[in-house]
Amino acid sequence: MKINENYLNLKESYLFATVNRKAREFQASHPDKKVIKLGIGDVTIPLCTAVTEAMHKAVDEMATKEHFHGYGPEQGYDFLKEAIQSYYAKRNTSLELDEIFISDGAKSDVGNILDIFAQDNVVLIPDPVYPVYVDTNVMAGREVKFMDANASNGFLAMPDPAVHADIIYLCSPNNPTGAVYNKEQLKAWVDYANANDAVILFDAAYEVFVADEAMPRSIFEIEGAKQCAIEFCSFSKTAGFTGTRCGYTVVPMDLVRGGESLNKLWLRRQTTKFNGVPYVVQRGAEAVFTEEGQKQIHEAIAYYKENAKIIAEALDELGIWYTGGINSPYIWLQCPNGMGSWEFFDFLLEQANVVGTPGAGFGNNGEGFFRLTAFGDRDNTKEAVERIKAALKK
Ligand code: MLT
Repeated sequence: MKINENYLNLKESYLFATVNRKAREFQASHPDKKVIKLGIGDVTIPLCTAVTEAMHKAVDEMATKEHFHGYGPEQGYDFLKEAIQSYYAKRNTSLELDEIFISDGAKSDVGNILDIFAQDNVVLIPDPVYPVYVDTNVMAGREVKFMDANASNGFLAMPDPAVHADIIYLCSPNNPTGAVYNKEQLKAWVDYANANDAVILFDAAYEVFVADEAMPRSIFEIEGAKQCAIEFCSFSKTAGFTGTRCGYTVVPMDLVRGGESLNKLWLRRQTTKFNGVPYVVQRGAEAVFTEEGQKQIHEAIAYYKENAKIIAEALDELGIWYTGGINSPYIWLQCPNGMGSWEFFDFLLEQANVVGTPGAGFGNNGEGFFRLTAFGDRDNTKEAVERIKAALKK
């Protein structure tokens, strides 16, 4: 028996597990202190009533012989796929129902999608980036090339015609930096991918935060994307489903590589390894797209954006450089006084009892940067910024 030795090439623990462990240890040794967590991007506003009412109704259905649901379709119920189809249609993107696959979240699918690609593909990943993209490729023993995202390119890496890649990861609005690609920039990526016979894995988990109507929320708003892209989205950040788990992946019918339909391969993979998202959860997700649901989730998004503004104003006052927070729930800041990312993490934890996420955990270009999330509770966010100000002014 041999283990998958690629796992030995991973960092010892997943970034957010390390952050949580450090916060837990600090709290255990300082029981009198109230630690405020602005680290992992976990939501704090409860599910909206449109969603919970739909879920309650679905639970009641599950208690009756006529409306009970056992195994559902592995790729999701049509009622939810139709709601997603209409959502895309509002932004002039037409999708076939069979192009939409309901999942238990973007994170799982971003990792699982690698099942359908050969091991020797060259993978291109921006640095800094959501660590799941890198870790899942390292687990599979794939070669990863990094592209720099830094202050000089607005944290938006662009294609380099001299570099060939087969699989490209893009995340917009970006986690961790909050940067958003405009249509011209995404078009450049789509053209590059088509020219290289590559596939773009586009993570749109934060699309609902895009405030500017002219900015793309889906890669399929770009001409040619259906021939080269797969899109991942989630209800986690959009509608508070982090604990309820539901997302979706769009694999266009036009996406063909090596003469094979990637939609067909993904369907084969999902029908074999996945038994679908619970009926009750899918009914809740469907309610997100009703008029009431949209109104309610946008109230929550506005609340988080106000938190981002509170954090941004404090950083302005402190003279700290930052980006993000406008089209994104994340504020990406430069660590003050030349501190390293983990050094600033320890400083904030010890001096302000506030937890953030060290930029270095997202890649080499993240060193010297730090991420704060706007997903916190309002009072905690206010208290956290007061504590940060006090600690830094000392
Ligand atoms: C984050 O903090 O980056 C996210 O919560 C991670 C995730 O969505 O898995």
